Amino acid sequence: MGIPPDPAGPSEADVLEALRAVIDPELGDNIVELGMVTGVRVGAGGRIDVEVALTIAGCPLRSQLDHDVRARLAALPGAGPVELTMGVMDAARRTEVMQRARWKVREQAPETGIDPTTRILAVGSGKGGVGKSSVTVNLAVALARRGLTVGVLDADIWGFSVPRLLGMDGDVEARRGKMIPLERPAGAGRLKVLSMGFLADEDRAIMWRGLVLNRAVQQFLQDAEWGALDYLLVDLPPGTGDVQMGLARMLPRTELIIVTTPPVAAQKVAARAADMARRGYLRVAGVIENMRDFTCEHGTTYRLFGSGGGERLAAEIGVPLIGAVPIHPDMASAGDAGRPVADGEGELAATFAEMARAIAEEIAPVIETAGCSARMLERVERAVSGT
Ligand SMILES: Nc1ncnc2c1ncn2[C@@H]1O[C@H](COP(=O)(O)OP(=O)(O)OP(=O)(O)O)[C@@H](O)[C@H]1O
Ligand SMILES: [Mg+2]
Repeated sequence: MGIPPDPAGPSEADVLEALRAVIDPELGDNIVELGMVTGVRVGAGGRIDVEVALTIAGCPLRSQLDHDVRARLAALPGAGPVELTMGVMDAARRTEVMQRARWKVREQAPETGIDPTTRILAVGSGKGGVGKSSVTVNLAVALARRGLTVGVLDADIWGFSVPRLLGMDGDVEARRGKMIPLERPAGAGRLKVLSMGFLADEDRAIMWRGLVLNRAVQQFLQDAEWGALDYLLVDLPPGTGDVQMGLARMLPRTELIIVTTPPVAAQKVAARAADMARRGYLRVAGVIENMRDFTCEHGTTYRLFGSGGGERLAAEIGVPLIGAVPIHPDMASAGDAGRPVADGEGELAATFAEMARAIAEEIAPVIETAGCSARMLERVERAVSGT
């Protein structure tokens, strides 16, 4: 109190809105909706005081929430220093919060095969052909090379391209009525992939017809056995339609990575993405600029489409620029050969490795539960069950 808030700084309503992007992965809802935000104050210089009440004192997700709250508030225009106080709720309040979370999960989100500790990143754009699928598979490989287990859900039902880009082929098998994602190693980690491309052969198509016809993405989430994943990357079809809304409904904690290209990064896309974020359909984690500039074999760089659009878009919607990928013939040829550039060495691989590092360490870190990543839990489960 006392000091009037900075007119250039965020309002308390802005702070609350930003905190809606922070999800308690165990409870599957945002901390505002769950009633975990017990105090918000904005002071001089945009200084933000926030109090968050955890469900239990030794909450294994404490550092996760701490990180996410700070990241979201730092992205607010005009935000000053952030003072975050973590308290613990009393038993009555905890019961109430848990009840509300359970009610919400039951009422709103159908059960999915995705663990609460999996980070879900959907890769989308307002426009087709900007490189969503190429970015998705290369990011997935780069994350897996960090020793993680990464799911890839090809949500482009009619225009699937993930199997070709990853050089994967085969038929999805079923176990106890659940689809089993196809797997392949990538560096020290693994990829688990589901795509219509694995169901498209004649017999499979008949077998799954009832299942997949118009609710394929839902089936990929609900009727699949993904096992423990550190990340699930979703390759979205172009546009901002049904699939995006469905994902937001089924997995409200999904975060969106927007891929843009320099000429596209204009007002319209920014406005659309910001609007999507505002309406709470999908929260935006960051922006990747693809096809930035072209460097020929003589080392000359050509700004074919210009550059900097990614930065502008990111700034406009108040999220980080995760990275920029140049136009490079290898992106196309590696895709055609089914050997993602991120799987090799060289400059493009390094670009994706750096983006994976930024994601895993800063933007959307692996959810550690009591010191175990999902991958470690799975390893333990495997060891115990002897498979
Ligand atoms: N950085 C890049 N340099 C050169 N070619 C690229 C680059 N990124 C993607 N491409 C090529 O551009 C084309 C479109 O890429 P991609 O299929 O990944 O885009 P998309 O956004 O998923 O498209 P759609 O909207 O159809 O799903 C592909 O031929 C791909 O190989
Ligand atoms: Mg695509």
